[in-house]
Amino acid sequence: MKISHRDLRKKYSTFFEKNDHKEVPPISLVPQNDPTTLFTGSGMQQLVPYLLGEEHPLGNRLYNVQPCIRAQDIEEVGDNRHDTFFEMMGNWSLGDYFKEEQLNNLFTFLTDKKIGLGLDPQRLYVTAFEGNSSVPQDKESIAIWKDIFQKAGMKAEIGERIFLYGAEKNWWSRAGVPEHMPPGEPGGPDSEVFYQFDVKHDPAYGETCHPNCDCGRFMEIGNSVFMQYKKMQDGTFSELPKMNVDFGGGLERLLAAANDDPDIFKTDVFSSIIQGVELASGVSYEDDMNKTPIRIIADHLKTASFIIKDGITPSNKEQGYILRRLLRRALVKVRKLNNGFSIESIIPIIEQVLETYEGIYFNSEEDRNIIIPVVTEEISKFQRTLERGLREIEKVKEVDAKQAFDLYQSYGFPLEITQEILEERGQKIDREAWRSEVEKHREKSRTSAEQRFKGGLADHSEQTIKYHTATHLIHQALFDVLGNSVRQEGSNITAERLRFDFYTVNPPKNDDKEKIEEIVNQQINKSLPVKNVVLPKSEAEKIGARSFFKEKYPDQVNIYFIGEDNADINDAYSKEFCGGPHVKNTKEIGHISIEKLKKIGNNMFRIYAK
Ligand code: SER
Repeated sequence: MKISHRDLRKKYSTFFEKNDHKEVPPISLVPQNDPTTLFTGSGMQQLVPYLLGEEHPLGNRLYNVQPCIRAQDIEEVGDNRHDTFFEMMGNWSLGDYFKEEQLNNLFTFLTDKKIGLGLDPQRLYVTAFEGNSSVPQDKESIAIWKDIFQKAGMKAEIGERIFLYGAEKNWWSRAGVPEHMPPGEPGGPDSEVFYQFDVKHDPAYGETCHPNCDCGRFMEIGNSVFMQYKKMQDGTFSELPKMNVDFGGGLERLLAAANDDPDIFKTDVFSSIIQGVELASGVSYEDDMNKTPIRIIADHLKTASFIIKDGITPSNKEQGYILRRLLRRALVKVRKLNNGFSIESIIPIIEQVLETYEGIYFNSEEDRNIIIPVVTEEISKFQRTLERGLREIEKVKEVDAKQAFDLYQSYGFPLEITQEILEERGQKIDREAWRSEVEKHREKSRTSAEQRFKGGLADHSEQTIKYHTATHLIHQALFDVLGNSVRQEGSNITAERLRFDFYTVNPPKNDDKEKIEEIVNQQINKSLPVKNVVLPKSEAEKIGARSFFKEKYPDQVNIYFIGEDNADINDAYSKEFCGGPHVKNTKEIGHISIEKLKKIGNNMFRIYAK
């Protein structure tokens, strides 16, 4: 292998540090205050308030490497380039440089043999937005790319080196194409770079090959989004206060390109995990027949380890559900390859995940003690589920599609296994009925996923912003009533309600709920201004600003404080590490009522308020 993931990280940070960019620490994979997604899915997620115009404490040239999960891609894993966990290497200009500098820098990073990855420019192909009725064609990017390729001694014709596509491909927002964006969401045209591998076009994917062809010859390795628009309430687009650049490139794919091998599972962010899977499953990755299941197992166990590391345990809801699904799906695949699985065979794969990212995301001993017990318990649970489900199936002579689904729904018994058993018994499954059950199930999970994008803080609707400020007041009121052991464990805001989880050694007593509610409303009624300042982290800690312990903060932080008009920040009622957005004055919140205060674990409590 020519370049390792550790080399790539080093090159990336050196390149951007030299180029006056500041590193933004990655955020948790489980986003706070963002009901729109279950997991952090891109590097820009934490930068939304700044792309919309707020000042970033670290300045306006930023970069980072952000762990991401795209759980919606779970079904796509299995080919040589899809994974549910990936790292996004990003850089941002918040109203500083724009298209010219971005595309030139990117080209240098990709092609320079000394300070970059040394990719052969002949292997690079780029795309740009062709324009539609509301946003014009991205002529600037086209002209800049022509110039860049010409300087490298190459011709760069449209349709040969530069390809134009519509919004489906060359527009980026967290919600996708312009029509799907909620009001307040930032987005813009983008320009992608593709690496062309030494692979023949597969005509099964179409007559001619082009960068967005799915045959595997081209791989997208980076996307420069020109974040210059915001969707308005009436559906039109207005220009953002600043022209921003939001670049993201998948570390795994950049690594695959740098090594000129299209299989991301052969790079060293996967290779030793794959070896672990080979040992557990007793089959070899070199055998084409095994590639798909081995990739799925390696990907899912890696993603599961990262999710557990960020505080989630398997359950039947939200992130916990995805975690359970990933673990169980991996186990089903191991079972199929090796006629079974055991705790002893699976844990070494997890150990390989920890080792691969040792010192980057995992500190082996500490994280081992968190992750291994969670995986072990889930494996035992699943073993019991399987036994129970198998007993149930034994009882039924002819299992129809509906019964298979009931088994799945009441015991979590995997459909794939039911199908396998029925096939072994030589029973025919009514394919149509089966498909229609699967479709119904898919439809259900899709609508719930779509609903996630409605409302919420990311739409920056007035109501979610109000609730966001209210969580700061609740946070401080909890300290007032329950004392200094209070620790925020997470929060979640939708347009309908806010949720706030916390830890305390002093469990709330009879009328504490009312006391907290009263304090919050007193502060609201005082009409206190809500302001923010940028401070060195040490100073913010000194003045007692509340932070979220699961988050790593940069040296300069943004502090929102709520207090009397002319009071010093020291005397402000609430001070908190936060990127916003918030109301300008507490009176805008109206009235907050705490609907529920319930125990959710050992010394852990949850508040629902409206
Ligand atoms: N936000 C863009 C993406 O996720 C680029 O960072 O692709």
